[in-house]
Amino acid sequence: ERVVLAYSGGLDTSVAIPFIAEQTGAEVIAVAVDVGQDGEDLEVIRKRALACGAAEAVVVDAREEFAAEFCVPALQANALYMDRYPLLSSLSRPLIVKHLVAAAKRYGGTAVSHGCTGKGNDQVRFEAGLYALHPELKVIAPARDFAWTRDKAIAYAEEKGLPIDVSSKSPYSIDQNLWGRAVETGFLEDIWNGPIEDVYSYTSDPAVPREADEVVITFKGGVPVALDGRALTPYQLITELNQRAGAQGVGRIDMVEDRLVGIKSREVYEAPAAIALITAHMELENVTVERDLARFKRGVDQRWSELVYDGLWFSPLKYALDAFIADAQKHVSGDIRLTLHGGRAVVTGRRSDASLYDYDLATYDTGDTFDQSLAKGFVDLFTLPSKMAAIRDRRTQG
Ligand code: ARG
Ligand code: SIN
Repeated sequence: ERVVLAYSGGLDTSVAIPFIAEQTGAEVIAVAVDVGQDGEDLEVIRKRALACGAAEAVVVDAREEFAAEFCVPALQANALYMDRYPLLSSLSRPLIVKHLVAAAKRYGGTAVSHGCTGKGNDQVRFEAGLYALHPELKVIAPARDFAWTRDKAIAYAEEKGLPIDVSSKSPYSIDQNLWGRAVETGFLEDIWNGPIEDVYSYTSDPAVPREADEVVITFKGGVPVALDGRALTPYQLITELNQRAGAQGVGRIDMVEDRLVGIKSREVYEAPAAIALITAHMELENVTVERDLARFKRGVDQRWSELVYDGLWFSPLKYALDAFIADAQKHVSGDIRLTLHGGRAVVTGRRSDASLYDYDLATYDTGDTFDQSLAKGFVDLFTLPSKMAAIRDRRTQG
């Protein structure tokens, strides 16, 4: 038997390798997926999996795929869970699941394992995705199902002589990828404590005085395709924008969040490119999307974000909303100019061949083509129902 393990290189998933082998007698295939997480050498991680006893260890470079097929759809949905969180961890889980399922098929795996606890969203995202893509796979979740604690994991790692440096482990639980970085636990669990600078790594302190940066983002059909006129792939574009917006402290988020399992949890995020891109994309939609479509889409965007947060990336309603969102992107092409400064991304200009903004209709100067005489009758009829109700209320209230 073979078990495919979602491997991060950290303490919990390293300990899982000999533990799963011991518990099940199966061979462990470790799969590490590169989703653009900063500062981790995937080849070192692969060798570590083998040193912990994995039968096979594979690294999948999924950076372009993650950008184009997960971050870009989230951008097109202006996806912000609870109006704030750009879903970064929620986006990487379904991608990792795809590669676990592919590895299970390639190596003859009959079970899949992840290192999530029973208190979080990630367990749901892994398992919902696995059952949607490959309903016959069994799931092994050692941290949850065998109640592993940090102390127990460290003791086990020492007993087995596993090559992991537990002393250097950060006091926080960190999950990072191209779309941003999530920081949990430690002193942040007291929700009155403010985050210290030490918590951040994708962003500089926005309070430090520095010169502003200006960037022009070009979109084609809702896809960001160029920065300052240079054509880039989604992965390249997001990477460069993370640097530039991050240097201005853009995209820091500190919030209490509603997890799917019912817990409220303190989360600190930094997502410089995601926040800059969503700001730009929303504004280009304001210019190019017809009013009723735009109003309806705001509700669709919110529902899409909740479905993805809740782990339902591979689900019928999510697929149907994808089709709606894709259709709504047809005319979302053009340029948005942003000033990045002091922790904020501010739109200062927009231009588009598909613009619905009509200067002659909007202007208050001479040259105005809007026929104001039509407005009088429009307002009379538009306000008729509430006027009738007000007259009725006066009558019935005596
Ligand atoms: N609360 C965020 C989410 O549910 C972040 C999760 C981070 N995951 C982690 N294993 N540290 O998407
Ligand atoms: C976990 O509890 O495994 C990480 C946090 C989360 O899934 O939300």
